[in-house]
Amino acid sequence: MTIILKIGGSVLTDKNKVSAAKPEAIARVAREVSEALSPRLVLVHGAGSFGHHQAKEYRLKDGLNDWSIKGILPTHNAVKSLNAMVVDALQMSGVDALPVHPLSNCILNNGRIEHMCMEAITRMLRAEIVPVLHGDVVMDTAKGVGILSGDQLVAYLARALKADRVGIGTNVDGVLRNGSVIRELKPANIREVESILSGSVGVDVTGGMYGKIAELMALAGEGIPSVVFNAEKPGNIVKFLRDDLAEGTLISGD
Ligand code: IPE
Repeated sequence: MTIILKIGGSVLTDKNKVSAAKPEAIARVAREVSEALSPRLVLVHGAGSFGHHQAKEYRLKDGLNDWSIKGILPTHNAVKSLNAMVVDALQMSGVDALPVHPLSNCILNNGRIEHMCMEAITRMLRAEIVPVLHGDVVMDTAKGVGILSGDQLVAYLARALKADRVGIGTNVDGVLRNGSVIRELKPANIREVESILSGSVGVDVTGGMYGKIAELMALAGEGIPSVVFNAEKPGNIVKFLRDDLAEGTLISGD
């Protein structure tokens, strides 16, 4: 059983400030992962307030130029520091977790992953180590440099590792329509979703909720189901990992 779990940047950080972590939330997430740990688990986290502001300031989405080149390191360092907090919290909870940084093992082509070196990750999984990846600034064959979202990363990893289940832990109860949770979505609903979702709150350079759902819809079409759930609600991560979650939005194939 291979599980990919993404914890959104908004769960771990205050997205409306610059580089503001939520240490209690990070510690709770780590405890929940430890409580329901399964042998082949990959964690991915978003950047939240670590990285989005820097990526925007240096206009990394415009590709490589004299200004953006100065923003690669501060953006990477910001999200790497959040990654270190997450990995440290997991280790403190007894989880053998290790960092994996996309800047160093991944190449984009016009914003999409062209190649990712998987060997360190597969060897970690074999050793029952939890690789912890994150949204990152990454070199791009077409634009020089680009931003890789944790959501695209989740979809890529799910395919590459033939994941059985994908979880997207966010700060909302699922995909919402007029304030209530849509319980189930299928790839055929993509147009409807496009008109419902207007982007998430705060500075987000990678597309907010719609970007997330588009990645997951494609994945569902290939037979890998995912669930978008509220990871701020204590106990939900444990339930997701134990396949016991009765809330959130399930995105599955037709
Ligand atoms: C964005 O990551 C990466 C950078 C801005 C460097 P995500 O798009 O996965 O982050 P969240 O989940 O929206 O915070």
